[in-house]
Amino acid sequence: MLILCIESSCDETSAAVIRDGSEMLSNVVASQVDVHSRFGGVVPELASRKHVEAISVVINSALQEAGVTVDQLEGIGVTRGPGLIGALLVGLSTAKAMAWSLDIPLAAVHHMEGHILAPMLEDPPDFPFLALAVSGGHTHLYRVDGIGRYKTLGQTLDDAAGEAYDKVAKMLGLGYPGGAVIDQLAGQGRPDAIDFPRPMLHKKNFDFSFSGLKTAVLQHVEKYKGAIDEQQLADIAASFQAAVVEVLTRKTLSAAKAEGLQRVVVAGGVACNSGLRGRFKELSSKHGVKVFFPSPALCGDNAAMLGVPANYYLEMGRHADDSANALANWTLDTVAADGI
Ligand code: KG4
Ligand code: ZN
Repeated sequence: MLILCIESSCDETSAAVIRDGSEMLSNVVASQVDVHSRFGGVVPELASRKHVEAISVVINSALQEAGVTVDQLEGIGVTRGPGLIGALLVGLSTAKAMAWSLDIPLAAVHHMEGHILAPMLEDPPDFPFLALAVSGGHTHLYRVDGIGRYKTLGQTLDDAAGEAYDKVAKMLGLGYPGGAVIDQLAGQGRPDAIDFPRPMLHKKNFDFSFSGLKTAVLQHVEKYKGAIDEQQLADIAASFQAAVVEVLTRKTLSAAKAEGLQRVVVAGGVACNSGLRGRFKELSSKHGVKVFFPSPALCGDNAAMLGVPANYYLEMGRHADDSANALANWTLDTVAADGI
């Protein structure tokens, strides 16, 4: 089955062509980062307008790159939620219009379902597995028993990991988004220079919290205001990253043990983080688990990641109709029961 996938939940407009839910023929991503960076975060109204401007161009590029014409398409997959409502509506309306005019079925997919199934386009893990989804909006641990069969084991009680990275970057004057910049800077600093807290590490549950860590960084920055040189800046980045990575890896491995799972998928924008990748590699053999990371192009928001669930739902005849609306909030646990 040849399907076109469309993603527009936040600040990336993306389209991809996927064959049989496994072969990626194209994956075009138009980022709006330059538009939002001067505001220090995503401006929802601007995001919607930029999606409207970009969506046809991005879809045409994805088709062209794949060497496919619209009349060859057999289905469409689109992100239905969660995300910014105006941004989601651009992708969903486009997908509905294309599916209707081409008379092909539509699958309306959960954004996080795309993220955690992205490794299936490269090095597919067998089910069941544990998924750590870490992005700008999510820090969730899911048990995944199959496509459409998800159970949330834990989640952040406040900031998402990516959000904490972005806020700390802002405090340090490193711009927006800051995850990749802190990651790079951390490579030049000492991870043990500052003893930042490891929130929730000793709690028995699998929830996370990053707002206290963020405040600890803020207090440190304010204490030494005006006297932070380049090395100290790198030390702050490295020490902050060490705290985040320690909490994410330890909690994930404890959850895998508690659930008796030997496979772990790490997905979402923060899965690009070199410290996180390195630490999981170090710990995985000791804990007897295999860790799957999507390649960086499939970690951040992109449409190709929707291809696996969209293909599955289309093949099983679970089609969305004209009444499918965008959902700003949507829990992954109920996607199967939600019907589309
Ligand atoms: O998955 P994503 O592209 O969008 C959302 O669905 O949120 O994730 C974006 C987040 C941002 O917060 C960004 O700062 C973070 O991922 N990020 C990173 C790295 N690259 C992107 N965080 C830490 N280290 C990185 N290398
Ligand atoms: Zn995302």
